[in-house]
Amino acid sequence: MTLIHLPSDDVLDRACALLATGKLVAIPTETVYGLAANAWDPDAVARIFTAKQRPPNNPLIVHVASVARIGEAVALPLSSELQWQLDCVIDLWPGPLTVVLPRSQRISDIVTTGRDTVAVRIPSHSVALRLLERCPFPIAAPSANRSNYVSPTTAEHCVGTAALPGIHDFIELVIDGGNCDFGVESTIVALRPEGPKLLRPGGVTAETLAKRFGISVDQLTECETPAASGTTAMQAPGMMKEHYSPRTPLRLYPSDREVALPKRSGRIAFQKLDPVDAARYVIVETLSESGDLGEVARGLFAALRRLDQAELDLIVVDTCESSGMGLAIMDRLHRAAASGSR
Ligand code: TXA
Ligand code: MG
Repeated sequence: MTLIHLPSDDVLDRACALLATGKLVAIPTETVYGLAANAWDPDAVARIFTAKQRPPNNPLIVHVASVARIGEAVALPLSSELQWQLDCVIDLWPGPLTVVLPRSQRISDIVTTGRDTVAVRIPSHSVALRLLERCPFPIAAPSANRSNYVSPTTAEHCVGTAALPGIHDFIELVIDGGNCDFGVESTIVALRPEGPKLLRPGGVTAETLAKRFGISVDQLTECETPAASGTTAMQAPGMMKEHYSPRTPLRLYPSDREVALPKRSGRIAFQKLDPVDAARYVIVETLSESGDLGEVARGLFAALRRLDQAELDLIVVDTCESSGMGLAIMDRLHRAAASGSR
């Protein structure tokens, strides 16, 4: 029996009814697919942690349908300082932006893992919005992958061979909303009395946010070294544990140059490779003909999954500058490369 269904009104009604009774549903968003539960239902939310084998200290993002409904997750009214910060970025919603704000008591402690803040976002995917509009409660949804694995960007990824263990025991329904537009998770920014701080780079660039707040990118990231260096920079709780890793060992391209490649190596290229280079690999996935980083982000996780299934000894991935969309791409790749083979 297939779990995957196209997003007809009937299917969305069914999804809403399932969520209302504490069940889990996989849903498309513009970033990645999410594993959704009623954010007001502690048992339902606890099931997400079990299904994903997610560390209990890694809080979830809460999705709401509109700005008018953020009070379902956030303690209102905000202080004038936090309201000012929110106003700077509010028109980026709906979209791939998550803000961390003081939590409403209605949100389960399990969602926030005991913090006094909550991460909230309004997704722009039309199917996610149609579902949220139908539901009289907010939806908690982490990415619909097992903890530490690559996030899903298609409905098939949610149920495929690399899906959550025992998926049929946990997910009642996967709503197919097509391929995700952004392909990397939302940008997370904490709004704080002492000023905003970028916790995770994503679909909205750090440059865009910094400009909105009238500060520099360095101020937004507090001048900390990027995750690449292995320090705890720019880190949302639980993020160190999220490696986005395929099981196959992964190496970033420049450090690979002097090293002999194993026989079965695959390459993820950000733009067309020259044929001599390409010939060294048994598979080459080219994410963009021209090196467009939006295209690279969109295709990256699916390519990692495909190569991970190809029984390779090594996956070699291109790199790019850590600015614009490149910041999110390199953040995910450094995490994937850091964890090595498992
Ligand atoms: O694009 C996305 O954000 C996707 C889609 C499904 O919306 N969701 C997603 O969720 O990426 P997840 O669970 O993979 O990442 C959520 C991250 C957590 O790792 C945690 O670091 C951060 O959000 N987070 C949640 N609540 C927080 C809080 N109160 N303070 C700081 N960070 C928080
Ligand atoms: Mg995730």
